[in-house]
Amino acid sequence: MVHPVILQGIHKHYRLDDVDVPALQDIQLVILPNRFTVIAGPSGSGKTTLLNLIGCIDRADSGTLVVAGRQVYTMDDDALSDFRAQRLGFVFQNFNLLPVLTAYENVEYPLVMAAMAPAQRRQRVQELLEAVGLAAHAAKRPGQMSGGQRQRVAIARALARRPGIVLADEPTANLDSRTGAEIIELMRRMQREQQVSFIFSSHDAQVLEAADDIVRIHDGRIVAVERDVNRP
Ligand SMILES: Nc1ncnc2c1ncn2[C@@H]1O[C@H](COP(=O)(O)OP(=O)(O)O)[C@@H](O)[C@H]1O
Ligand SMILES: [Mg+2]
Repeated sequence: MVHPVILQGIHKHYRLDDVDVPALQDIQLVILPNRFTVIAGPSGSGKTTLLNLIGCIDRADSGTLVVAGRQVYTMDDDALSDFRAQRLGFVFQNFNLLPVLTAYENVEYPLVMAAMAPAQRRQRVQELLEAVGLAAHAAKRPGQMSGGQRQRVAIARALARRPGIVLADEPTANLDSRTGAEIIELMRRMQREQQVSFIFSSHDAQVLEAADDIVRIHDGRIVAVERDVNRP
């Protein structure tokens, strides 16, 4: 069962030294499932704030958010963090891998946390490392890998528990353009193979090029949604 992400009447502001910083204003948005959606906008436009809301890392001040068929603001913080671990995967700009663990162990980690049986776990980790082209590097630690290889590990880890949605905040920002292009290509392929929704923020032209749908945001407001109508 696949679900769209639905945001209705979402507002979010930050308080900074007694000053109100409006970050998102009256967001109405539907993000279709099983697609590659990019949230695009200049620095300070609200991309990270929007992704943190969709990723249930932060809560809106008002409005309704539906993710994976659940109204997330009806859940308390514990329920929300379980929901997040089960349903969402995250790819971080700085990879956020555990430095003392190997590539294999980094991908395995969320499955250990989910108490998956060892044999199943081994199979899932091997299949993911193969899918991201790192089967031969399973025993390496992050410090022994390139930025592109680390990002591949991070993508495999994000997909480990078969989330419905993978979120990434400017995933190519710390990569050179060639490595960035390879990573986008990989994410494109994984999005199709694994039947997940990918939702990224970016102002990288290469990422926008790969998108099915582009949500354009400016000064905390959505100014356009461009959908690739040729995709089913
Ligand atoms: N923790 C914070 N405290 C105060 N203001 C913030 C905070 N995070 C973001 N902002 C402000 O909210 C607005 C949107 O920021 P952000 O979502 O980070 O934009 P983007 O990711 O597009 O650069 C900006 O004006 C930013 O300065
Ligand atoms: Mg940002």
